[in-house]
Amino acid sequence: MKRLLLLAFACLALAGVTAASAAGAKPSKSFSAADEQYLKTSIEGDRFEIIGGKWAQTHTKNAAVLRMADRIVSDHTKSLKDAVKLARSLGIDVPSSPTPSEVWELKIVTGLRGRAYNHWYASLEVYDHVQDIQETTDEIKDGTNSQIRDDAKTELPMLQVHLSLARAALAANPTG
Ligand SMILES: [Fe+2]
Ligand SMILES: [Fe+2]
Repeated sequence: MKRLLLLAFACLALAGVTAASAAGAKPSKSFSAADEQYLKTSIEGDRFEIIGGKWAQTHTKNAAVLRMADRIVSDHTKSLKDAVKLARSLGIDVPSSPTPSEVWELKIVTGLRGRAYNHWYASLEVYDHVQDIQETTDEIKDGTNSQIRDDAKTELPMLQVHLSLARAALAANPTG
């Protein structure tokens, strides 16, 4: 009986420790709703970029679009791996597909061919990376979890390279 009581106290103490860490005593495991949203959006974005880039690799011969797609596929494959690992370590759900609007965007561009495809895919990637850079900059500025913020810091220069490759692809395909 005494042992059982001791065990019960030990469990209560442990529960107290867990509650304290959830409240922020252990910064590496605590995160804000905005941190979580950033990481999930980033994973959905990686999945969107990989699907779109792979499609380009097999459906266009345009050099500027291929240069962008090759870089996008290899960089986002790596960033997806890192972000998934980080999400799992923090107990954050890992999205298994792009967002519905990203799926819709992919459906629209992959329905196009030739010049129209090159133009609108490049245009989509310019607009997408402008948005990604904004979200990543916000996380670096306002993020509360140091690991998620570090992930954003690693992503930013990669996204800037993608934006300039997308701008070059759009300049090479100015009309659809
Ligand atoms: Fe993106
Ligand atoms: Fe990108």
